[in-house]
Amino acid sequence: MLNIILLGPPGAGKGTQAKRIEQTHGLVQLSTGDMLRAEVKLQSELGVKAKQIMEAGELVPDALVIDIISNRIDQPDCKNGFILDGFPRNVVQAKALDQMLSDKKAPLSKVVEMVVDDAALTQRIVGRYSCEACGAGYHDEFQKPKQAGICDACGADKFTRRKDDNAETVKQRLAVYHEQTAPILPYYADMNLLEKVDGMQPIDAVTDQILGLLKSA
Ligand code: AP5
Repeated sequence: MLNIILLGPPGAGKGTQAKRIEQTHGLVQLSTGDMLRAEVKLQSELGVKAKQIMEAGELVPDALVIDIISNRIDQPDCKNGFILDGFPRNVVQAKALDQMLSDKKAPLSKVVEMVVDDAALTQRIVGRYSCEACGAGYHDEFQKPKQAGICDACGADKFTRRKDDNAETVKQRLAVYHEQTAPILPYYADMNLLEKVDGMQPIDAVTDQILGLLKSA
């Protein structure tokens, strides 16, 4: 069983790499952002609460995301291991995760920090889009579909952009990352779980770095 956290600022490539590791290692990507966006789309009680907070680039209340993750980890497909993408995001969530993984007897194998400059992050986020049908991720410059306007994964021709992927909201998301999420890095360093990868490299090179780290996990 391999249980990994991908940690890094917005646009660092957590989602991109998590999808690749899902395929290479048969692990499940657990993205709190994707889960919350699904609730917003459904207009569920949680989705209604989360919508404005997400569009403002702030964090959704801890109790809500802790609950979602705890329930999701209990699903049978997580038994072989999972990749946490976007959780934990502050010290309260990190401590809640420790407690829940200890209760579920599913220890963490590694925490991978993806290091990317703030300027590159903004460029990545404002150029990002995804397939409306299957969710496959693309970028105007760095990850174009092989055939323009057609999704490589499912052949659909409709794409969408996230509401929080604009320069203004990105500033706030980055500020929240530096104030609230970065302080959990020393927490995992003290537990000897933290490894860094250079997220400024091209996508394939970042994947190679992560796969190298997972060999020793
Ligand atoms: P969430 O969905 O988690 O967003 P995020 O952390 O801001 O991360 P992103 O999805 O923007 O970036 P990513 O690192 O996955 O980058 P990607 O691979 O797509 O959270 C959204 C909101 O939900 C939060 O603001 C908050 O409100 C709420 N939320 C979520 N979790 C929460 C929690 N735990 N607690 C409270 N609130 C929570 O890559 C970006 C782009 O760059 C892509 O287009 C990609 O093609 C490109 N790219 C990727 N890697 C490279 C590379 N190496 N070189 C060039 N381009 C690259």
